[in-house]
Amino acid sequence: MRHFLTTVDWSRDELQAMLDRAASFRDQPAGQPLAGCSVALLFLNPSLRTRASFEVGVFELGAHAVILEPGKGAWGIEFEPGVVMDGDAEEHIAEVAGVLSRYCDAIALRAFPLFKDWSEDRKDRVIKSLAQHASVPVINMETIVHPCQELALMRTIQDHIGRPDGKKFVLTWTWHPRPLNTAVANSALLIASKFGMDITLLVPDNAYLLDEQFMDAGFEQAEASGGSLEVTTDIEAAYSGAEFIYAKSWGALPYYGKPEQEAKLREPFRHFIVDEKKMALTDNARFSHCLPLRRNIKATDGVMDADYCVALDEAENRLHVQKAMMVELIGKGER
Ligand code: CP
Repeated sequence: MRHFLTTVDWSRDELQAMLDRAASFRDQPAGQPLAGCSVALLFLNPSLRTRASFEVGVFELGAHAVILEPGKGAWGIEFEPGVVMDGDAEEHIAEVAGVLSRYCDAIALRAFPLFKDWSEDRKDRVIKSLAQHASVPVINMETIVHPCQELALMRTIQDHIGRPDGKKFVLTWTWHPRPLNTAVANSALLIASKFGMDITLLVPDNAYLLDEQFMDAGFEQAEASGGSLEVTTDIEAAYSGAEFIYAKSWGALPYYGKPEQEAKLREPFRHFIVDEKKMALTDNARFSHCLPLRRNIKATDGVMDADYCVALDEAENRLHVQKAMMVELIGKGER
């Protein structure tokens, strides 16, 4: 049994097999390879795309989705081991994972970091504790990484610019009114480096570098795949010659849990917005974003409405890649 917690655990060939299967699911109906199965979807945080694409995808595979919102429509969950449970949580992840493993063929979880202490959140302990106690595959629907988004991004890159090796991929930080999760940025770095792209990480200040576990993985994977990773604060140099622009906003880790201080650092950098002038510097690049996106904050209307914007394709690909991943985890393609 395998989990889908991070793409670091999966080889490029294994991920490419999922991407290929996703393309075939998109081109022709999948049949019902998971007929009779059930998948639990646990949301500790809001979602539009993840919830809709998983619910529809599970349905299209012939399976049933059990959607739970712990702390809202379901009992709150304690994830820490060995605690005296005299707080708000009514049950422990040990029982939640054990019970859902008896009912379901996989358990998916969205659990954002708590934005208090990065030295704790960087360990991704919540989803790891679910995987530890579950006896069925566990799927990460976004924690400090977003591996389902990674698959959708790489499917979209391959659809639009072909083989990714050696293509210039720019991951640009953008301004946002509040500090956001680093998960999608971490994930973009992981998947682009695994697939041999020449990555430019564009940040306004070194405080916006990603956690060293992801920077190190990016450098190591890039070296292994024949790609590269460089960091710059130079907007013009970053966009020049780019073939794929990927935008995301995230909080500065040295100010994690201190949003007022982080806001002062962030304030002068509104000009990192993706606009038509910057896109004109590229080599006819495609632009994408994981969504949701605040228009005219992260990217202009002109960029979002341009033919080169493939964000909706990436969102659609969430459906196809997740179906392929679930068949791999639950069905091994043999049902
Ligand atoms: N991209 C993404 O995960 O979207 P949601 O937060 O709406 O699920």
